[in-house]
Amino acid sequence: MESLIGLVNRIQRACTVLGDYGGDSALPTLWEALPSVAVVGGQSSGKSSVLESIVGRDFLPRGSGIVTRRPLVLQLHKTEEGLQEYAEFLHLPKRRFTDFSMVRKEIQDETDRMTGRTKQISPVPIHLSIYSPNVVNLTLIDLPGLTKVAVEGQPESIVQDIENMVRSYIEKPNCIILAISPANQDIATSDAMKLSREVDPTGERTFGVLTKLDLMDKGTNALDVLEGRSYRLLHPWVGIVNRSQADINKNVDMIAARRREREFFATSPDYGHLSSKMGSEYLAKLLSKHLEAVIRARIPSITSLINKSIDELEGELDHLGRPIAIDAGAQLYTILELCRAFDRIFKEHLEGGRPGGDR
Ligand code: GDP
Ligand code: NA
Ligand code: MG
Repeated sequence: MESLIGLVNRIQRACTVLGDYGGDSALPTLWEALPSVAVVGGQSSGKSSVLESIVGRDFLPRGSGIVTRRPLVLQLHKTEEGLQEYAEFLHLPKRRFTDFSMVRKEIQDETDRMTGRTKQISPVPIHLSIYSPNVVNLTLIDLPGLTKVAVEGQPESIVQDIENMVRSYIEKPNCIILAISPANQDIATSDAMKLSREVDPTGERTFGVLTKLDLMDKGTNALDVLEGRSYRLLHPWVGIVNRSQADINKNVDMIAARRREREFFATSPDYGHLSSKMGSEYLAKLLSKHLEAVIRARIPSITSLINKSIDELEGELDHLGRPIAIDAGAQLYTILELCRAFDRIFKEHLEGGRPGGDR
């Protein structure tokens, strides 16, 4: 049986491809009702690095300063074992990227196309899908980092503009927040915690992620944070060690980086006892599990939206048939099929009498 998250992912993608065609139908609402995961944090806190680790591939622009200047909506699709990994941009539907360094370049170029080669930002998202046997089904959103001051070449309004853009994603009740704070800064000053607490006061949908554990001063550790004493969260904190800038410059690959991260925790006198609940692989599994739980909890509201969409889509399809509508028709048809599959699988889950059962 196809996983619920995989199906939700495909519906989201089909809705995205259809774009504005949905108009005032239930489709945009359907997209919004489906969960996604967004990263929030200060500039250079390690947001893009964490996303890369979750995906297990190098493909995002990273570095010091404002590198991420447009939202990146990243959909991960798990494919069958043995198939080749590839990436596809919504704005380049005919092109399959198998070289992930070209994916990074295209993100940079597409950012520049919208903003010029400046330090400006744009709220217009870039949509990217990755198909791979090595990912979990997830929709992840990379966002520009929160800042405190505008730098040379940026308008004064940028601080507020970035905050508003980030808030517009994470305030949605379906958004799971990855709140990223670097371990070498005081958690009390973390922009990530401040903004996520504002939009999610109960912490139900916030996951605290502590990066740069390797960069802490000798003789100090982050146990007060990781064990929830400094800043209590509903979900447990996850500590991470990403690649340093020197590693990036030396092209240290993802496999080596993950191995080193595992070793860091396993051999650490401070964190050894937590090592099975630390690191990017654990974070990816935790998120996937949470997402699935969220989808299950939303079954009733999602199915009613889906049924509404099915009715509308059937109505739409009855009216199509003119040449101009062929593409839209095909997309509507795809969504309709996916919605029907979704509905069927939900029913199977419910009738199977094991609503908490496996996929
Ligand atoms: P973003 O601006 O929040 O997206 O942060 P990036 O992922 O671009 O990372 C900013 C810089 O911090 C890069 O040079 C990374 O190599 C470095 N960095 C991120 N996480 C870690 C970490 O856990 N340890 C170390 N040593 N460096 C990190
Ligand atoms: Na950065
Ligand atoms: Mg970034």
